[in-house]
Amino acid sequence: MATIEKDAVSGQNTTGHEWDGIKELNTPLPKWWVYVFWACTVWAIGYWIAMPAWPTPNGFTKGMLNYSSRGSLDEDLKAQKQSRSAWLTKIEKASVEEIEKDKALLQYAMVGGKVIFGENCSACHGAGGSGAMGYPRLADDEWLWGGSVAEIEQTIKFGVRNANANSRQSEMLPFGTGDKLADQQVGQLADYVVSMAGKAPAKGSPGEAIFAERCVACHAEDGSGNKDLGAPALNNQLWLFKGGKDGITAQITKPKHGSMPAWSERLDASTIKMLAVYVHNLGGGK
Ligand code: HEC
Ligand code: HEC
Repeated sequence: MATIEKDAVSGQNTTGHEWDGIKELNTPLPKWWVYVFWACTVWAIGYWIAMPAWPTPNGFTKGMLNYSSRGSLDEDLKAQKQSRSAWLTKIEKASVEEIEKDKALLQYAMVGGKVIFGENCSACHGAGGSGAMGYPRLADDEWLWGGSVAEIEQTIKFGVRNANANSRQSEMLPFGTGDKLADQQVGQLADYVVSMAGKAPAKGSPGEAIFAERCVACHAEDGSGNKDLGAPALNNQLWLFKGGKDGITAQITKPKHGSMPAWSERLDASTIKMLAVYVHNLGGGK
């Protein structure tokens, strides 16, 4: 027969169980534990009532607060869209110059421009506008068609050598202005351009005379080029196509013509503004 008695050492009751003279104490659960247990129980019941909780045959209990994570996502998206359209409205109204003067707007345009550039432009111009043979590097301060933000916007809008009525147009004809040149003359001319690119133009050479006759109309006497015609500077080491005597000879005899789509046919005005600002700032912003 189990008898419940008081343990002399701890002052607790025993359970009455006894094995080989060892008695089991009936120690109650600590108070803090009991409080936490009940608090959790009350919280859980409240949660079942307030929030979606239990599965039912046709769905789940919706809870009195009518909360759904999809609903809160929709709300987040709505808020995001609203703040985005506020920015876009500002960009729509501002000129590219004004965007560059407004620090917050500039930052927004740079972030947006970078993403749009990655999607539409980097296939030709390389990631970050690093450029490739025939596709100008945009991340420098050397420009074919002008490096002000307005000129860049114009180039992006209407493109280069395409069917758009406002496209930038120009064409380098074989041998420049005039008839076919003999191979020897082409060689002399190419040598002269090489010397010019090395910043030490061979004054008085036969090549200089041919250049003056056939090339200066577009590339200028000192080889600095002409941005109205998209004629690149030849007096530096930056080449759109291949430099060196071979590359220059190839351009003289069979000129290449780069072409770019008119982006206003595919992208809206605000998007093009963000691109212009992004590209302008890649090149250091001349
Ligand atoms: C299909 C290839 C292609 C794509 C795509 C392309 N471009 Fe171009 N882009 C060119 C070529 C080629 C030229 C140089 C044309 C020339 O030789 O004058 C050029 C020139 C430019 C220039 C003028 C550079 C200068 O030195 O004046 C700018 C600015 C430019 N692109 C921006 C862009 C932007 C922004 C995009 C994306 C919306 C883009 N490009 C997409 C091929 C491309
Ligand atoms: C009607 C204007 C015009 C004349 C004249 C002209 N060019 Fe060009 N040249 C251009 C244009 C425009 C380009 C760029 C082509 C392009 O963007 O696709 C170019 C490109 C070049 C290039 C390539 C530059 C690079 O960065 O890769 C060389 C080299 C060149 N020209 C040399 C000459 C020489 C030498 C003559 C004289 C025989 C000459 N050009 C006459 C308009 C002209």
